[in-house]
Amino acid sequence: EHAPESLPFDETLTTLRSVLPEKLRQPHVGIVCGSGLHTLAAAFREVVEVPYSTLAGFGKSTVPGHKSSLAFGLVGPGEGVPVVAMLGRLHPYEGHKLSTVVYPIRVMARLGVRNLIITNAAGALNPNIDVGTIVVIQDHIAFPNLTGMNPLLGPQIDSKYPRFLPLSSAYSVTLRRFAFLAAHKLQLGLNALTEGVYAWVSGPTYETPAEGRMLRNSGADVVGMSTIPEVVAGKEEGLDVLVLSLVTNKVVIPDQYRSIKEEVEAELAGNPVIRQDEAQVSHEEVLLIGKQKAEVMKGLVEKIVELIAAS
Ligand code: HPA
Repeated sequence: EHAPESLPFDETLTTLRSVLPEKLRQPHVGIVCGSGLHTLAAAFREVVEVPYSTLAGFGKSTVPGHKSSLAFGLVGPGEGVPVVAMLGRLHPYEGHKLSTVVYPIRVMARLGVRNLIITNAAGALNPNIDVGTIVVIQDHIAFPNLTGMNPLLGPQIDSKYPRFLPLSSAYSVTLRRFAFLAAHKLQLGLNALTEGVYAWVSGPTYETPAEGRMLRNSGADVVGMSTIPEVVAGKEEGLDVLVLSLVTNKVVIPDQYRSIKEEVEAELAGNPVIRQDEAQVSHEEVLLIGKQKAEVMKGLVEKIVELIAAS
């Protein structure tokens, strides 16, 4: 099969034009809301929500904490800037094809979006990064991209795109600066944010300790199951990309394994070892931290949009 996949852009765009008022039809900024973060759109005015189910080519998000609609609205002072947000993203682990996962990003680009702000929930690999920290992503490691799960595998959907997309400067310096300036303007202080490298894994299993250690040793600060397909498609579409990861848990990477041999030895010697259950990450924990930090994330995204609009 060497023909590009046929994607229903005309149909999707026609539907959107028919349901959106004139002033919302050409959003400047696209936003992707991560787990527990769909309240980001509460900062929009004159919101029009369009369910994915009414849009050709869109999948349905099946993950708790994700809705399945596009929210169009205005952000910022005066008339405001038109923006569009994905309330609920699509993940390969739900069974969506990578081309489906990134289709909404391609639609955003065709509506006129030039800047993409992607949020997600992530686990911290770097022991210095605490739960609740927002990490401005500066680079990524995507084992799936390197090993046959790259969203750009296959015939190109448009010959105007480069066949070999460089990703050496995928994360916009301008937008990363705006993130820190927004933290400053909101009086959160620059320390409210930190910078780091995101490792993309397919999930849906959380990492084993050995996998967490490997990712950490590879140079990653946080790990998550999303975002990178959207970053890659966004870069192919020529968008400026910013990624904000909210750390919802620490990845458990013990220095040492418990030695069952030693425990049995001690037990046989009449000194049984009493052990506590080890910590385990859960999606409930991920959603809870998302909820607690949603207000801060919302304020930041809103301010970053204003900085983009003023630039
Ligand atoms: N691992 C992978 N993805 C995640 C995690 C994690 O610990 N936390 C939130 N998303």
